[in-house]
Amino acid sequence: MITGKHVRLRAIEENDLLTLTNWRNDPEVYRQFFEYEPLSLVMERKWFDEFLKRREEKFWIAETIKESKPVGTIGLVNIHWRNRRAEMGRVLVCPECRGNGYGKEMSELLLEYAFDHMNLNRIYLEVFADNTRAVSLYKSLGFLEEGLLREHVFADGRYCDVSILGILREEYLAASRQIQDSSVRSDSSNSEIKK
Ligand SMILES: CC(C)(COP(=O)(O)OP(=O)(O)OC[C@H]1O[C@@H](n2cnc3c(N)ncnc32)[C@H](O)[C@@H]1OP(=O)(O)O)[C@@H](O)C(=O)NCCC(=O)NCCS
Repeated sequence: MITGKHVRLRAIEENDLLTLTNWRNDPEVYRQFFEYEPLSLVMERKWFDEFLKRREEKFWIAETIKESKPVGTIGLVNIHWRNRRAEMGRVLVCPECRGNGYGKEMSELLLEYAFDHMNLNRIYLEVFADNTRAVSLYKSLGFLEEGLLREHVFADGRYCDVSILGILREEYLAASRQIQDSSVRSDSSNSEIKK
């Protein structure tokens, strides 16, 4: 398990499949994914069986630490061991759980795992350019916009632009150092105030 302050990432169990199917069939969710067809539990089970055999893919459920309540999913696909890169994907927080910081924390946990545990060098992703919520989440984590694929995906009756964002290990480490330094600074200024 990959544990943060409020959520942890854990492996998927068979009895999660119904929840996953329901989330993926929710228009609030599938609208932001590139390919959609209505999913059945049988299809999801078949996908799960195949997923368990693949070494180049990881997929976790995010659940709250307090209540062990599933709140979302996140994963790495297209893991390329020689080039030490992977694509971040399947990022979703269930509609009623959004805006609580879960999306940010689970993405931070995934980056920590990818860079510090799997020793990857680059994480990238593709997102609809007009998915402002997701784009601002990724930018707040240190992802940089690397390119725009114009009219790349046909969805909702129109061709949509897709942004490519990426973060390198060096950039991730520099951002982590900055966060540590600023928390040390705020700790020492707090103790100055207390004096
Ligand atoms: C994108 C998504 C994962 C964000 O999850 P979340 O739990 O709501 O996000 P958080 O509460 O952790 O917020 C993280 C950041 O998202 C951005 N954000 C959150 N709510 C937002 C809103 N209403 N408008 C714009 N940006 C918003 C902010 O940058 C925020 O960081 P901040 O709080 O430091 O400002 C979630 O909205 C979701 O599942 N959307 C549908 C599926 C999807 O779009 N997946 C991404 C496909 S690439």
